[in-house]
Amino acid sequence: MSARTHILLGAPGSGKGTQAKRLVDELSLSHLSTGDILRDAVSKGTELGLRAKAIMASGKLVDDDTVNGLVFARLQDETQDVLFDGYPRTLQQAEALGNFLSSKGIGLGFVVNVDVPPEVLEARVVGRRTCSNNACGAIYHLESKPPKTEGVCDLCGSPLKHRADDTSEAFRSRMGEFNATFQPLLAFYSGGPNYRRVDGNRHPDQVFGSLVQLFREKA
Ligand code: AP5
Ligand code: MG
Repeated sequence: MSARTHILLGAPGSGKGTQAKRLVDELSLSHLSTGDILRDAVSKGTELGLRAKAIMASGKLVDDDTVNGLVFARLQDETQDVLFDGYPRTLQQAEALGNFLSSKGIGLGFVVNVDVPPEVLEARVVGRRTCSNNACGAIYHLESKPPKTEGVCDLCGSPLKHRADDTSEAFRSRMGEFNATFQPLLAFYSGGPNYRRVDGNRHPDQVFGSLVQLFREKA
């Protein structure tokens, strides 16, 4: 079981996935993205995936009990410290996670808000392309991070895809969900000793530098 869990908070397109992928390598953490777990279930056509597919494509949130169940099952098997990306994202999830961690004696590490002004997010999301090989999952952008060969992942050679929820319409719905849930979540965490805000509206390397520095602080 993990000793500690860290959390990256942030809006759709704020850079949670981009940063998490680098941080887990740098700091030997295990990456737990509920979006990735759900997308994997959708692509495999599992019972969960069939249930989640339309909800995710429309930009709505999957219900709390389902997501909490996925996370707690994963945590049971984890031996490394965990970095959450996209979880928790409702107050109910944050409270349930807190109870679960306490019951298992797992510590809460850093809670980092990757803060990006809303006006830059849509272009990030609509221009995103991701590797279709779920084991790789590399993240690109048509303008700010294009692959060397159009449509092909630099890292594993698999075709790139456009996420079903990376349309302007689904983005607006996702922002609606974010705006409805984020303030209570922030209120829940921001008074804690390990809460930090990082300016996510800089070059990804600069954001990464700040995050590494922060994670190397003694919590
Ligand atoms: P999820 O996969 O978690 O999506 P999200 O939170 O909307 O976040 P994104 O993955 O869109 O953005 P990101 O912050 O990871 O940004 P990225 O690094 O890719 O959730 C998807 C869906 O699953 C939800 O809508 C819901 O249905 C369901 N779900 C998941 N978790 C759930 C939960 N806990 N409860 C209920 N439902 C849940 O970057 C975006 C783009 O920007 C990329 O193209 C990247 O190259 C570019 N970029 C990144 N950083 C920078 C930078 N610093 N400057 C310029 N461009 C940048
Ligand atoms: Mg992501």
